[in-house]
Amino acid sequence: MRKEEHAGAALQKGKARSSFSGKLGYVLAVAGSAVGLGNIWRFPYLAAKYGGGIFLLTYLVLMLTFGYALIVSETALGRMTKRSPVGAFGTFGKSLPFRLGGWINAVIPMLIVPYYSVIGGWVVKYLFEYLRGSTASLAEDGYFTNFISNGFEAEIWFLLFGLIVVTVLFAGVRQGVERVSKIMMPLLVALALFVAVYSMTRPGALRGVAYFLIPNFKNFSWMTVVAAMGQMFYSLSIAMGILYTYGSYIKKDVDIEASTKQVEVFDTAIAMLAGLMIIPAVFAFSGGDPDTLNAGPSLMFITIPKVFASMGFGTGAGILFFLLVLLAAVTSAISLAESGVSTFEDELGLSRRKSTFLMGALILLIGSVCALGFGVLDFVTLLGMSILDFFDFLTNSLMMPVAALATCILVTRVAGLKKIAQEVEQSSAFHRKKMYGFFMRYLAPVCIIIILFSSIAGVLGWITM
Ligand code: PHE
Repeated sequence: MRKEEHAGAALQKGKARSSFSGKLGYVLAVAGSAVGLGNIWRFPYLAAKYGGGIFLLTYLVLMLTFGYALIVSETALGRMTKRSPVGAFGTFGKSLPFRLGGWINAVIPMLIVPYYSVIGGWVVKYLFEYLRGSTASLAEDGYFTNFISNGFEAEIWFLLFGLIVVTVLFAGVRQGVERVSKIMMPLLVALALFVAVYSMTRPGALRGVAYFLIPNFKNFSWMTVVAAMGQMFYSLSIAMGILYTYGSYIKKDVDIEASTKQVEVFDTAIAMLAGLMIIPAVFAFSGGDPDTLNAGPSLMFITIPKVFASMGFGTGAGILFFLLVLLAAVTSAISLAESGVSTFEDELGLSRRKSTFLMGALILLIGSVCALGFGVLDFVTLLGMSILDFFDFLTNSLMMPVAALATCILVTRVAGLKKIAQEVEQSSAFHRKKMYGFFMRYLAPVCIIIILFSSIAGVLGWITM
């Protein structure tokens, strides 16, 4: 009885929340979740650090094969079961492996939002500084490092960003957020195009363009594959239960293959634009200095201010840029947090208010530790990483591969490739069915095992990260 009630509630909820009027609404919603800090902040710094063109090539190959197959699988499983991950796994079995498979997918977004909010806080800080007209000081060497290591300042900005996210969650204005994101996405693209062209035409920038676009096998390392795969999960919002949930909201008339393609193209286009904004600037403003290329999470905050400081209307451009990045970050953070909240509601039976409180508490706790990890807590390193880097590594390089593996096993061993194909074929022909089967059966497991092995080997110092 309870189970039925629960299932009924979930179904109803699926209906009530299914704001996707059809294909376009769905694609926009997924794209809105996919495009975020991952594209603008994370992708360029990984590409700079892990080999430039060879990273890009690895990323593209993985996205078109492995990523494609996983998006189709998660969406189809969500639509088939009409459940978020825990429920979706649960419909196939009640034993421990099913529970673990569902929960690992559900827990990942809960661990990502906190540190995502810390980066969001950095964005708010930069927006604030541009509004104050500090364009020149933001571009000074060492500004960013001073900022994050300055005791509690990063914490304050993180709290502000977290507050925005939690407030929106409480207000439940997802609709509004989505409407805003429809206006702001095209704006973001236009501005990114402009900044990319400006950055690429600076003296010396072409070497950066070449570094980013032309694969050089000398720069290849195992970490290129590990980083590219983690980034693919992150950027496309896969292996974290999001697409199960979104899939559960769509009707049988949405062409899963075509919408997957559109989301991939859009997401990758934005990431590449961000790469073209940031990497050429590293070469133009610091001559491709390896230290800057390896700057990691701080890269965007170091190079973009230099670009703006060097051009006319730099302050205006800075305000607009960080405002748009902030909006993209807020919408993504909300979809991450929303997924946590709905898991608490569905699986722990908590009210929406309590679930939101719980999510807020998690953000506060883990996020604060991450924010302070560059300041008062900078003596704490986990496996040789700062706390924020550690959470990023834990989720992207360890948990997501396991979550993806769980989905692969669910598809190939439990549900069966046939059933997934039938689900996809309800709305359209499944053009890449054969390839899909091959990806899920062989390619994906092999990739996952490589990434897991490399992540662990990296931590143990067997390979350099
Ligand atoms: N894909 C988002 C980004 O690139 C992050 C994200 C993941 C958002 C999962 C929502 C859900 O920033």
